Amino acid sequence: MGRLDGRVALITGAGSGIGRASAILFAGEGAKVAVVDRVPEGAQETVRMIRDAGVEAIFVEADVSKSSSVEQMVGATAGQFGRLDVIFNHAGIQGAIGLPTADITEEDFDLVINVNLKGVFFGCKYAIPLMLKQGGGAIINTASILGQAAMAGGTPYCISKAGIIQLTKQIASEYSRFNIRANCICPGLVRTPLIEPYFEVFRLDSIPIGRAATPEDIARVALFLASDDSAYITGAAVAVDGGCTAEAKLLLKG
Ligand SMILES: NC(=O)c1ccc[n+]([C@@H]2O[C@H](COP(=O)([O-])OP(=O)(O)OC[C@H]3O[C@@H](n4cnc5c(N)ncnc54)[C@H](O)[C@@H]3O)[C@@H](O)[C@H]2O)c1
Repeated sequence: MGRLDGRVALITGAGSGIGRASAILFAGEGAKVAVVDRVPEGAQETVRMIRDAGVEAIFVEADVSKSSSVEQMVGATAGQFGRLDVIFNHAGIQGAIGLPTADITEEDFDLVINVNLKGVFFGCKYAIPLMLKQGGGAIINTASILGQAAMAGGTPYCISKAGIIQLTKQIASEYSRFNIRANCICPGLVRTPLIEPYFEVFRLDSIPIGRAATPEDIARVALFLASDDSAYITGAAVAVDGGCTAEAKLLLKG
């Protein structure tokens, strides 16, 4: 018996990295999965991988930064599968990294906030009414350890992730009494296409566990938060960071 038997899950950004790993894991635990992405190629490949394993999945093309697109994405999923039990608002971008705050353009700022923060807000906004009608659901949002601590040169990204943590708490406080749980995951360094161009600049020995996360490390926590195993957890920001945020970084000379 799977931990998500009979459930319907929607995952944004499921054409790559953590989103794809989660879609495959959720399907393996019995969920029917709506694989959402702005880019069809990767998402269609995710769908094929799930169907090859004998589980139902559909591709829904959506740009999470657009309200109407997210409304249509939720509607298409419910239209196909008849319900929506889990939404994993995972799609996100890094945007311009490396500029001090005063040098960031309004366009750079808006782009990251629109995809990362408004995208998660829209996902919640359109999933919650369905979940209320059904009598419950689970919301999982991808934040970051960079929503809890600053990174010089990453202002739009860090603000967007801090906003996701607070948005998750807002939703938990408003809807948990209606059996809708909302939690977010704060990954540290995960080896995915998102960070592959910069991967070599990270000192892996600065991570207490000594390695970057795999997409599956994060997907397993998403599964836990999606399933009844986490029935009494809501409003949490779960760090999945190999210990990065546990340790003060005061590096010694030599
Ligand atoms: N990789 C890391 O180290 C790390 C660390 C912390 C948080 N995260 C978060 O994980 C998420 C990214 O996941 P990943 O690392 O697997 O990256 P990824 O680049 O492999 O996957 C991101 C997916 O999101 C899709 N996407 C981007 N913009 C979209 C939009 N507007 N609408 C719909 N889909 C869109 C992309 O097409 C891509 O398939 C982001 O929210 C990111 O902030 C990643």
